Amino acid sequence: MSDTSFLSLENLTLAYGKTVAVEGLNLEITRGELIALLGPSGCGKTTTMRAIAGLMAVKSGRIVLDGRDITRTPANRREVGLVFQSYALFPHLTVFENVAFGLRLKGMGGAALEEKVMGAIASVGLTPFARRKTPDLSGGQQQRVALARSMVMEPKVLMLDEPLSNLDARLRLEMRTELQRVQKQSGLTMIFVTHDQVEALALADRIVVMRDGAIEQIGTPEEIYNRPASGFVADFVGFENIFALRDGHLVAGETEIALEAPPEAAGLAWRPAAVPLGQGPFAGTVRSVSFAGNRREYLLDTALGPIKTEVDAALPAQGLGSSVSFDLPAAAAAPLRRFG
Ligand SMILES: Nc1ncnc2c1ncn2[C@@H]1O[C@H](COP(=O)(O)OP(=O)(O)OP(=O)(O)O)[C@@H](O)[C@H]1O
Ligand SMILES: [Mg+2]
Repeated sequence: MSDTSFLSLENLTLAYGKTVAVEGLNLEITRGELIALLGPSGCGKTTTMRAIAGLMAVKSGRIVLDGRDITRTPANRREVGLVFQSYALFPHLTVFENVAFGLRLKGMGGAALEEKVMGAIASVGLTPFARRKTPDLSGGQQQRVALARSMVMEPKVLMLDEPLSNLDARLRLEMRTELQRVQKQSGLTMIFVTHDQVEALALADRIVVMRDGAIEQIGTPEEIYNRPASGFVADFVGFENIFALRDGHLVAGETEIALEAPPEAAGLAWRPAAVPLGQGPFAGTVRSVSFAGNRREYLLDTALGPIKTEVDAALPAQGLGSSVSFDLPAAAAAPLRRFG
């Protein structure tokens, strides 16, 4: 464990019976960091959080929090909060009582309790609903109750499993800002799971991309967005044109194209916006075109396979089936250390 690490996962292996869900995972998180766990369904995000929270046994490896080995510490003595994917509120209790529940267990009451609980409820924008029972709230409101209920306990680490998934687009954006504000203000160390790369990029100090129970890449949003390590990560963050490189040649099926690329790169990836349309040495046919506000998105059939590009919508539209030229400028590509 390094000196600056607040939460360390050391060579963590987690299994359900004989099924290994997470293998040899290493992760060091600094105090006050906001970490996003990103990865496809089944890659082990919830499993990792359950282990940190003490809700499942560790097969091998260690979890160290704030200098203390908590690998075998019971869940209720870890000072770790987890807001579940299904947030499991008490349906017979009001919003207030749901949020107050953990503090009451700790023996808090009276004005101190009232103040803390109402503060937490206000921070998620639910003050008018404090006395309402939770089944009489919308999905997004219930999600915010679950958030307040965890935050009020002031855990050392707060983990949120898709905290914003039930919110509509506007509320999601509001809550995203709110979550970031609360986190920065409180200095709380937070780990949250999301399927939404835009959300991960917007919120996180660092993003951990998981794949098949292991970490594929750890980096700042800028690093993940601009320098994905593999085709897998590139695909996840919106590079829709991903090609293997072999001996300085771009390889796509039967086709090979000579291209200037960093010698250590195993592949190159272009975002649609990095592929110029109407210029360049390559030819394609427009298979589909869709209007996306200020941009127009094209899918081209080419000798390299399907190519996605997007251009300024102010430019004249290319019709379906028309022949177009395009370019794959090496300078605009992200080099991949691993193709797959
Ligand atoms: N209770 C369980 N018993 C057996 N296997 C499980 C159990 N829970 C999860 N798994 C398996 O462990 C692996 C990791 O699951 P996990 O729930 O951590 O995925 P996840 O990344 O959270 O996915 P999602 O994005 O769908 O929530 C999956 O292959 C899953 O099928
Ligand atoms: Mg999950």
